[in-house]
Amino acid sequence: MPKTGNRITRHDGAEPVAIAIMAAGKGTRLKSRHPKVLHEVGGKPLLAHVIAAATKVIPPPHVYAIIGYEAARVREAVEHTGVNFVLQQEQRGTGHALMVARDALQPYHTVIVLSGDAPLIQPPTIQRLRDFHFTQSPAMTILTARLHDPTGYGRVIRKAAKSADVRAIVEEKSASPAQKKIHEINSGFYAFSVPQLYQFIDRLATDNAHREFYLTDMAAVFQKVKQRVVAVEAHDPHEILGSNTRTELIEIDQHLRLAKCLALMAEGVTIYYPQTCVIDADAEVAADTVIEPFVQLLGNTRIGSDCRIRSYSVIRNSVIGDGVVLLPGCVIDDSQVNAGAVLGPYSRLRPGCEIGEAAHVGNFVEIKKTRLGKRSKANHLTYLGDSEIGEGVNVGAGTITCNYDGAQKHKTVIEDGVFVGSDSTLVAPVRVGKGAYIGAASCITDDVPANSLALARARQIVKEGWVKQKKTQPVGKPR
Ligand code: UD1
Ligand code: CA
Repeated sequence: MPKTGNRITRHDGAEPVAIAIMAAGKGTRLKSRHPKVLHEVGGKPLLAHVIAAATKVIPPPHVYAIIGYEAARVREAVEHTGVNFVLQQEQRGTGHALMVARDALQPYHTVIVLSGDAPLIQPPTIQRLRDFHFTQSPAMTILTARLHDPTGYGRVIRKAAKSADVRAIVEEKSASPAQKKIHEINSGFYAFSVPQLYQFIDRLATDNAHREFYLTDMAAVFQKVKQRVVAVEAHDPHEILGSNTRTELIEIDQHLRLAKCLALMAEGVTIYYPQTCVIDADAEVAADTVIEPFVQLLGNTRIGSDCRIRSYSVIRNSVIGDGVVLLPGCVIDDSQVNAGAVLGPYSRLRPGCEIGEAAHVGNFVEIKKTRLGKRSKANHLTYLGDSEIGEGVNVGAGTITCNYDGAQKHKTVIEDGVFVGSDSTLVAPVRVGKGAYIGAASCITDDVPANSLALARARQIVKEGWVKQKKTQPVGKPR
């Protein structure tokens, strides 16, 4: 068992603190084929949010995700975080999840239990739960919250109004009308003394509405065996919100999105109508950039300062330099746009593009796996794929790189200062040397040497008086 970084060290051989995240459930109420904890809010799976908060408090090897429904998929989605996994093959309730984790958790002194479907939890609140547990030293500490509408949550029955001590947690389905009026709810986050948890966990029974082992019943179990159970209230009730239904998922998503916009605004970014923007948790934007309505910044996108991102632009996993202007409707994936470039309206960068400083990419231009050099321009109706384009190149309207021969992709190289006339096709593999000119509507199949003019089209034919002649010919008679 690795011992690095776990803050409180003990001398009895036990590791101090583990975190167990319950993430095995199917999520029946979402009516989905996919596991609940992989549903996304703020651009990341629910479980990824909880793991991110947990691993800020306890190092990853001491964090255990209890997985079950579609376990392989869940594991694959979050494996990179370095957490450990416990398999709950059959999901027989939250109490059962902890029963299954017995072997993994037994080396620890304390376990903090989190819920994989409550993604708003923040590290300071986990620390508060842990610290309260340490100062009180009970068998179980419950994190609670007061909700205006507690419907659906387990209610916390304290021994007395101001007492930290708890008598029981009553699930909504088993609550009496009087208990349903209690606004203090169980967050589904707890701290347990590991030895006490596993001494008594087998006393849980399934005599409830779902025929499941409820972890919440540990409060009553401990009460019976005269072990202390206490509760500590979260400062921000939002942090405990769970996502059992699609409506709750969207409420949480909106909460995260707005919080992200507000955080960026606090750092100096202007976001008009933040309610309409979709900005993922990991996106970064530097100060003095302006984001117009209906913009999406997804994945690991980084935007520099003094940019203007106009409406309906969707940018994923891309790096945008300082002072870039994206006119409306740009779609950018896995690409880099360097400082001062201007794109759009309606430019599309597919993965693997690098747009040079002060370059221009205009409307209905599609670019894939291509480097467009400094100050180069492709302003209208163009496809550039698998290309290497130098500096100061002018790519005329309607230019197309024919990069695919039906079996393989080939490269087009256009060196510095080249002028490609409108409506040209460049049949790859092909190289156009420095400073060369390509006449409009050319179909370039061979390399063009530097500083030369290439014309690859039929000569114009003019037949004077042809129209008049045609009109005087009898109908139907061959010419
Ligand atoms: C639970 C609590 C309830 C609390 C609420 C807070 C119980 C019985 N009730 O209810 O008091 O107010 O959370 O959000 O615990 N899971 C497993 N294995 C299982 C069953 C569930 O890992 O066998 C996981 C789920 O994937 C989920 C978490 O445990 O991430 C909570 O389960 P869920 O069914 O959502 O519990 P709630 O009904 O929300
Ligand atoms: Ca839940």
